[in-house]
Amino acid sequence: MNDALENILLDVSKSTDIDGGDLEKASGLILTSALKGLDISRVSIWLLQPDKKSMTAAKLIDEKSPDADVPILRKSELPEYFRALETERTIIANDARTHPATVELNNGYLQETGVYGLLDVPLRHKGEMIGVMCCESRKPSRRWSSDEVAFVGMLADIYGRAVSAAERETFENLLMRQNEQLESMVEERTQSLTKALDNFKQAQERLIETEKMAALGKLVAGVAHEVNTPLGISVTAVTHCEHRLKKLDQGFSDGSISRKQLHTFISNTFEAYQLLSSNLERAATLIQNFKKTAVDQSSFELVKCELNSYLHALILSLNPMVKKKKVTIDIDCDDRIVLSTYQGALAQIVTNLVSNTNDHAFAEADENHQIRILTKQEDNGVRFYFRDNGKGMDSETMKNIFEPFFTTSRQKGGSGLGLSIVYNLVTRKLKGEISVQSTPGEGTEFSFLLPDLPK
Ligand SMILES: Nc1ncnc2c1ncn2[C@@H]1O[C@H](COP(=O)(O)OP(=O)(O)OP(=O)(O)O)[C@@H](O)[C@H]1O
Ligand SMILES: [Mg+2]
Repeated sequence: MNDALENILLDVSKSTDIDGGDLEKASGLILTSALKGLDISRVSIWLLQPDKKSMTAAKLIDEKSPDADVPILRKSELPEYFRALETERTIIANDARTHPATVELNNGYLQETGVYGLLDVPLRHKGEMIGVMCCESRKPSRRWSSDEVAFVGMLADIYGRAVSAAERETFENLLMRQNEQLESMVEERTQSLTKALDNFKQAQERLIETEKMAALGKLVAGVAHEVNTPLGISVTAVTHCEHRLKKLDQGFSDGSISRKQLHTFISNTFEAYQLLSSNLERAATLIQNFKKTAVDQSSFELVKCELNSYLHALILSLNPMVKKKKVTIDIDCDDRIVLSTYQGALAQIVTNLVSNTNDHAFAEADENHQIRILTKQEDNGVRFYFRDNGKGMDSETMKNIFEPFFTTSRQKGGSGLGLSIVYNLVTRKLKGEISVQSTPGEGTEFSFLLPDLPK
């Protein structure tokens, strides 16, 4: 190939326009290079339609008549021309008006454009013919040299490269757009999930609040039952006294009362009064203790708590809860321990632990059931040990007990919020820490450290 053509090819091949992805630009460069190398005035790129029955011009440069109409070339009208193209060989027609492959173009196309010579080179992409590059000469005596045929062949190959680059660019853009879409979808999903999670947390907090009140409710029910007994006895005693007093009054009026009867009446009345006073006192103590802890449980105030007496008062009001299963609660706490903390929160923690032990550790009533609450003064707070000698739990249960809604007694109405409340109160409200140890068949121990809270 001569140097001039080789240099043009080299320039085209090195140009960044070819692999840049812009097919329009690449086609322009390829066609102007053909014009220059072949010294012609009209050159074009034609692409086969998917059905391969027609071709349309993808790009055409005609220096003589730039605004000329561009026809559609149809197989039905140009069967020989299309047959020649199907061989996928270059059509070298020095005199296109008589060449067997192009003679059909004579009456219309060639006459209208004033073209005499045609050099049509197949364009290929991924091994398949996609169209032709059509070089046209308006000089009647033009002969295409083998150098020129090779030159256009190479330009056609370069066009294939440009198509690949454009295709890649399209895919990349598509991928980028899909990525962006995906990102915005992920973003949207994340937002809606975050919102759902927020809602869930709020619902959970509301439930926890409700459950706190439920713990109080349990306490109220237990204490109400317990107060009812001495009050009932008192009412009976009073009724009894009233009845006897009426009888005495009658005897006194009709003068039938004997000295002995009067004596019996007085001693019976004393007995009744003793019963009355001891039962009313018991009811009053119960109410007093209950008031103390119940008020504590609903209002949280930071106080200096004398632990020993506070725990005793609290346990007194919790005893009714465990009485049925004959559980005894022992407290081992040094008189001198004073802890600055939210007493109400502490009351709720102990109430929940006692209620849990009663519900889960002990199945039936037994004299040996025992809860021990042990406290130890530490450097910056007090450590509590809450032990029971109940049925204990396996390691799987132990792993989950502080999770909200975890319960092994759903069918008995457990909500699984008790220990999650305990956990929140210890770690958040009281800034402490809590852990659990348990051996199936032997019992469970909760250990929690409550620091002295500053005012
Ligand atoms: N002392 C204990 N002995 C054995 N198992 C226990 C003990 N305390 C708690 N558990 C186990 O821990 C689980 C979770 O307790 P939690 O207080 O959170 O819920 P619950 O008591 O089942 O229900 P709720 O307290 O809401 O009524 C219980 O279901 C039980 O299996
Ligand atoms: Mg519970």
